[in-house]
Amino acid sequence: MSDLSTATTPAGTATAVAHPNIALVKYWGKSDATVNLPETGSLSLTLDVFPTTTTVTLDDDLTADTLELDGAPAHGTPLDRVRRFLDLVRERAGRSTHARVVSRNTVPTGAGLASSASGFAALAAAASAAYGLPTDAVSLSRLARRGSGSASRSILPGLAAWHEGDDTSSYAVPVTGPAVAMVVATVDAGPKAVSSREAMRRSADTSPYYPAWVTSTRETLVAALAACEAGDFTALGRITETNAMRMHAAIQACDPPVRYLAPTSVRLFDRIAELRGDGIDVWGTADAGPNVVAVCRPGDAQRVADALADLAPVTVAHAGPGVRLVAGPTA
Ligand code: DP6
Repeated sequence: MSDLSTATTPAGTATAVAHPNIALVKYWGKSDATVNLPETGSLSLTLDVFPTTTTVTLDDDLTADTLELDGAPAHGTPLDRVRRFLDLVRERAGRSTHARVVSRNTVPTGAGLASSASGFAALAAAASAAYGLPTDAVSLSRLARRGSGSASRSILPGLAAWHEGDDTSSYAVPVTGPAVAMVVATVDAGPKAVSSREAMRRSADTSPYYPAWVTSTRETLVAALAACEAGDFTALGRITETNAMRMHAAIQACDPPVRYLAPTSVRLFDRIAELRGDGIDVWGTADAGPNVVAVCRPGDAQRVADALADLAPVTVAHAGPGVRLVAGPTA
C-alpha cells in the first residue's frame, strides 16, 4: 500500500475507515504485553463488511482526550485504551495536544467480531495523519498492533500474515492465496462476559494446553502459508477449522474456565460439517465469542448463507480493503 498522507484533511484533523478481519490462524497469546508482541504469527482475511470510521481532531483547549463511540461519550476501558494509544502517538510525534476522537462501528462492539481490530486500525491511521506521523502500511501496522494485536492485520486488504518479532519487525504483510468468502453468523451481538485480552492472559497463565497451542500454531501457520501459496482452498479451510477448535480447547481449559461457544455455535459447526457432507467446501471458525464464521469459496457463499440462516442472522463477506484515509470528518 502506498503512503496515504495525500488523503489527509486540514492540519490536525483526519478521518480513516478500516474493516474487521477474521483470523484463519489465530493470534492467542502474547510474548510481550508491553509493546503487544504475539507469541505466534497469525493469518487473517480483512472483510468488506462492518467498517469502522474514526475521526481524530487535535484541540489545544482540551486537557484530556475525549472519545465518542457510536454516538455516545465513552468512559472506562475503551477511553483508557484510546488515551494510552494517543499518548504513544504524541510521544512519537513530539506533540502534547490532546484530541477528540469520534468513532462509529457498524459491527457490534465487543461481540467477538473484531471491532477492536477495525477500531485501532482506523485510529492508528487517523491519529498518524492528524499528528503528522508516517502513514505507510508498515508504520501503521506496527502502531495499530500497540492498540490491539489483531488491528495490525486490518491495515492490509484481504489475506494478511502478522509475524512474530520485536517491536520493529512485528507487523502484518500481504499474502496471496485462494479466493475466500466468509459467512458471518451472529449468534449474540452483545458484549462478551470475559474480554479476549483477559482470556488470553488466563490461557497463558493457567491452561495446561497453552504450550501445545503455541507449538502447534507455529507449525499450522507454516502449513497455512503453504496452502495459500499453492492456492489450495481446501487445505486452508481444514487448517482454519482445526486451529479454531484448538484455540477454544485451550481457552476452555483455563482456571477458571472460559467457554465462548454457545449451543447455537455448536449447531452451526454441525451444520457446516453437514454441508461438507453434501459436497460444499466449507469450514468453520470462531473468535473469542459465540459467533461462527463459515469459510467457503465465493461461489458457494450464498448457498452456505441460506443453509445457516435459520440458526442465526448471517452476513456474506469477501476480501475487503485495507485502511484508508478519507476526506472530511465524520458526521
Ligand atoms: C480470538 O487483538 O483483540 O480474535 O491484542 O489483547 O487487543 P489484544 O487482542 P485482540 O485478540 C484477538 C483474538 C482473536 C484471534 C485473532 O484475531 O487472531
